Amino acid sequence: MTVLGIETSCDETSASLVQDGKTILSNAVFSQAGIHGKYNGVVPEIASRNHLEKILPILDEALGGRPLSSVDAVAVTNGPGLIGSLLIGLSTAKAVAYSTNKPLVPVNHIHAHMYAPHLFHDIPFPYLGLVVSGGHTILFNVRSFTDMTMIGSTIDDAVGEAYDKVAKLLGLGYPGGPVIDRLAKDGDPDALPEFRDLTGIFPDKPGDRYHFSYSGLKTAIAYRVGKIAMNEQKVRHAAAAFQRAAVEMLVRKTGNALSDLGLNTLVISGGVAANSLLRSEFEKMKNNGVAVYNAPIEYCGDNAAMVAGRGFIDLANGGAADGFRTEAYSRIPGIVKGKRI
Ligand code: KG4
Ligand code: ZN
Repeated sequence: MTVLGIETSCDETSASLVQDGKTILSNAVFSQAGIHGKYNGVVPEIASRNHLEKILPILDEALGGRPLSSVDAVAVTNGPGLIGSLLIGLSTAKAVAYSTNKPLVPVNHIHAHMYAPHLFHDIPFPYLGLVVSGGHTILFNVRSFTDMTMIGSTIDDAVGEAYDKVAKLLGLGYPGGPVIDRLAKDGDPDALPEFRDLTGIFPDKPGDRYHFSYSGLKTAIAYRVGKIAMNEQKVRHAAAAFQRAAVEMLVRKTGNALSDLGLNTLVISGGVAANSLLRSEFEKMKNNGVAVYNAPIEYCGDNAAMVAGRGFIDLANGGAADGFRTEAYSRIPGIVKGKRI
């Protein structure tokens, strides 16, 4: 079965064809990162206008000359995300599904991210799923594709959001993750006394070992940047200190959940899963008998292949839309900023 995936939840316009949830026939992605760079973040209205311009060329690119009739189902991200952006993908998917009389499958963006490693690996259940993106930082106890419980999430900023905000503080532009990751390699997290104390921020508490908090880390960086005269090398050191603290929290909380739940399989996904320090730190868990899975770097960020893959699973589990009716939504229920789940 060939599923057409469509993704427009944030600032990537993407369409993809995936066969049987495993074989990627095509994956066309247009990133608007360059367009939003000068604003240091995604401007929703600009994002939806650019999706509108790009969605049909990207759809054509993904089809690569194949007729629309060769598509067996249309999977589309309908949330969480920016409503105006989601609507562009959703309307396109509805039009394709309606005109070809094929099922429309609404896909949850977080589920799609978690599916990305499944495109490349046969992953056994149960596992711990860590989703780290610009909008979410979540730990899931995953018993099967259809049976998962959110056990922890950020109580304020998402880790990718913190990367983007800290990059802005350091004058590095948007998106912050890749540039901080690159500069941190030439920085020393212990070089500047002001930045040494960040590791271990947001300590574990009894009964609260799986939640994350990135707002305090961002504020700590802001205070310290304001106190000392920064230069290019100091920016690299600050980036390294921030990255060490950000990744340490992810590794610690994830380690807590693995040991408390007695799980020995970990699946990491989302844009921040492309991070080099994060990947190497989690790789070390393999020494303790944990099987660690992630997607190749180009499939960590937003792409439609993960949507098509997850759509294949959802369709098999009866997840087709009721006719062509399905709505866009901005947030997943249960996640309210500033509140623990
Ligand atoms: O999954 P994604 O493409 O979009 C959302 O669903 O949010 O994630 C985007 C986030 C951005 O915050 C970006 O700065 C971050 O992923 N990111 C990274 C890296 N590459 C992208 N963060 C840290 N290190 C990276 N190498
Ligand atoms: Zn995403």
